[in-house]
Amino acid sequence: MSMDAGTMTMLEGLDALRAEIEASLREAPDLRALDEARVALLGRKGRVTDLAKGLGRLSPEDRPAAGQAINRLKAEAEALLQARRDHLAAAEMDARLQAERVDVTLPARRRSAGAIHPVSQVMDEIVAIFAEMGFAVAEGPDVEDDFHNFTALNIPPEHPSRQMMDTFYLEPEEGTVPFVLRTHTSPVQVRTMRTGKPPFRVIAPGRTYRSDSDATHTPMFHQCEGLLIDRRTHMGHLKGCLIEFVRAFFERDDITTRFRPSYFPFTEPSAEMDVGCRRTKDELVVGEGSDWLEVLGCGMVHPKVLKAVGLDPAQWQGFAFGMGIDRMAMLKYGIPDLRTFFEGDAGWLRHYGFSPLDLPTLFAGLSR
Ligand code: DAH
Repeated sequence: MSMDAGTMTMLEGLDALRAEIEASLREAPDLRALDEARVALLGRKGRVTDLAKGLGRLSPEDRPAAGQAINRLKAEAEALLQARRDHLAAAEMDARLQAERVDVTLPARRRSAGAIHPVSQVMDEIVAIFAEMGFAVAEGPDVEDDFHNFTALNIPPEHPSRQMMDTFYLEPEEGTVPFVLRTHTSPVQVRTMRTGKPPFRVIAPGRTYRSDSDATHTPMFHQCEGLLIDRRTHMGHLKGCLIEFVRAFFERDDITTRFRPSYFPFTEPSAEMDVGCRRTKDELVVGEGSDWLEVLGCGMVHPKVLKAVGLDPAQWQGFAFGMGIDRMAMLKYGIPDLRTFFEGDAGWLRHYGFSPLDLPTLFAGLSR
């Protein structure tokens, strides 16, 4: 069979192209380069495609053989392409597996150094208990004015408890009454009653400040205030509410309690609540025994306080209470020295701290 010269050149060109294709596909360094090579050869404007388009220029006798040769080349190129693709994909996977290798025999990582501070834990516990009884959380500023911290709470300027409280005063502006760092959370009672509408049922946990420092006192400490105002509230409600609280807080139903008469300017009558305890040489068990531990102050809100916030004492009355959160934490979790709370010692926190994932709830257990 004789071919014309054009066909001969074309078929020779095919051999050269085959060699070129083999080389370019074999050397493609990665899948992207391989794909670029594929487009350059077999794409719509690729070189093999161009060749096929040139078939029309050949003589009709030569066309079938030339067409077959081009198809063969195309098939070979596709096979090479696929082989290279498989090879490169496997290599890429190997590299990735190598890079993302996990040594499962390595020892487990240490528990992170962070933990929930006992003060935060106890605050969350207290909030959980009172929330269940329908109390909302109220807040007030740490820097408080004289009216909210003292006067509205029936503590006039000459009142001795102003001295007792070792107040931190801020530098006053010329001719004004100085602001104070709040000495207790009781001013939040005043803020709540002045801005809202009765009935009220709030607790107010937060920071408080007094110029005092020893094993049981720090200049900054934490309190939680409670306030309930309604039309027919009496001392029985106060006792029921607080007995229920200490039961839930110390997580024992058989806890013994007693109320001792006391004095606070903002309540009348006033009382202090104790829980039973047993002290041994190096242990303190809360809830049983013949000793008593004071846990909070409380009383019926003084009519003068109600008047100071614009409530009519003939219509509205209620009870209030205040407790030291740090002290509650020490009692519940057996932490001996208050000052360690504020030293920021990571070892101490690891020992006394709580897991951030265990939120205190009454149904799941407060401290588990
Ligand atoms: N504010 C008092 C204190 O810091 C605690 C207190 C006592 C608060 C009796 C009250 C209360 O609301 O009724 O010592």
